[in-house]
Amino acid sequence: MTSTDILNQCAHVAQWLWQRQWAERNGGNMVALLPADADTEYRQLPPLSSPTPIGLSVPHLIGRHLYCKGSGCRMRDLARAPMDYGSIIRILPDGEHYIIVASRPILPTSELASHLAIHNYLVASHSPHQATLHTHPHHLIALSHRLPSLDSLSDQLLSMMPETRLFVPRGIGIVPYLEPGSVALAQQTLAQLHHHDIVLWSQHGVLAVGPDMEEAFDTIDIMEKSARILLLSQSR
Ligand code: 13P
Ligand code: ZN
Repeated sequence: MTSTDILNQCAHVAQWLWQRQWAERNGGNMVALLPADADTEYRQLPPLSSPTPIGLSVPHLIGRHLYCKGSGCRMRDLARAPMDYGSIIRILPDGEHYIIVASRPILPTSELASHLAIHNYLVASHSPHQATLHTHPHHLIALSHRLPSLDSLSDQLLSMMPETRLFVPRGIGIVPYLEPGSVALAQQTLAQLHHHDIVLWSQHGVLAVGPDMEEAFDTIDIMEKSARILLLSQSR
């Protein structure tokens, strides 16, 4: 996919998130790794911001460019104009700072540490996944409030319908409630992604990875449907 294709895909996935009602106000965020030929193209662009610390080290992303939703920006706005409600960042040679290079100095999402920690791991492990997506789906969040049953939650969700085991065979990882945007949340999410393609942020939302933003969305969509069926099957 070209950078333009990737941005168009981010825009229509943002629209789906809004339609699903998973993206209240500025809820959720997305980060897409841009292809290596974009690195050559964007390398010429002058910085639009001063170097900003990421909060952790991402050596495998040095020199790479990523599209990020803007902090505080709404998915429903990004859906119409991805470059007005997001920006492209470049990871600096120290692997610990970034600068914004296009097209306006829109500050990237407050969950940047989690997204970049994951992209760093994906590149290091030669994964085909190039998209990370965080959103706030109702039923998965509701289940995360039932703390005693969380241990078996992944197995329960996998058994709700055949598609879940087929398309999300590694199940869902779970992290306890941690401060949104924190490095601790990034580190615990990364640990779960060694064994899963989707992680539940208790009492907050989910984060999924995929080869592209649509497939990351599909993974969340399937898990969210399983969560809904689980809650329906338990209701009297
Ligand atoms: P941002 O607007 O900074 O992306 O934050 C939204 C969110 O969902 C935080 O978890
Ligand atoms: Zn969130």
